[in-house]
Amino acid sequence: MFQCPSFECKKCPRLLDFRAQNQLKFPHYHNGPVESFGDLNAQILIVGLAPGLNGANQTNRPFTNDYAGDILYPALKKFGFARGNYGKVKNDGFELINVRITNSVRCVPPQNKVTADEIAACRPYLQAEIAAMPNLKIILTLGSVAHGAVLQALGYKKSAFKFAHGAEHFLNRHNIILLNSYHTSRYNINTGTLTADMFDGIIQRLTQIL
Ligand code: URA
Repeated sequence: MFQCPSFECKKCPRLLDFRAQNQLKFPHYHNGPVESFGDLNAQILIVGLAPGLNGANQTNRPFTNDYAGDILYPALKKFGFARGNYGKVKNDGFELINVRITNSVRCVPPQNKVTADEIAACRPYLQAEIAAMPNLKIILTLGSVAHGAVLQALGYKKSAFKFAHGAEHFLNRHNIILLNSYHTSRYNINTGTLTADMFDGIIQRLTQIL
């Protein structure tokens, strides 16, 4: 049975320390491991980096109230992978269609940066997540950290699958297509590394692959 990490998980001292600070500063925030969003029966899993401090860490829904969600969720809706209005809160009634979203690391890290140890500590949760999706066909990774986290979770060599925006890798032992996109972060949008049109292209590609 699939188990989301709970508040009992004490694997990452740095993240626990950051949580304790945030509990004092933002007592009304979730401040814990963020649950995945969407149905386990979905054919698509989108994997992000980690919750944003005032976003998913507040709302307990990936990319919700995060800048990155302002790019991700409208694109999903545009191509039929979501319905309802994205209201930046967990109980907005917004629903994903054939998509589930999770993160490489479930707890908010300082400065949006995770360590290799934290990715390794959270790996069993990502492995359990993937194993619990019987219809999984495509994993869309947002950013190179998520790309590496998925490959390691599934036991593939990172060096054999080079991350590139739009790249598609076939994971033969799992019969899964791994599709890469730049992360929808504010930094990538502000620097022009990723545009909303480029990201629409990635989401449109999901419709073609299915
Ligand atoms: N919020 C998330 O949940 N994940 C990310 O990767 C970024 C923002």
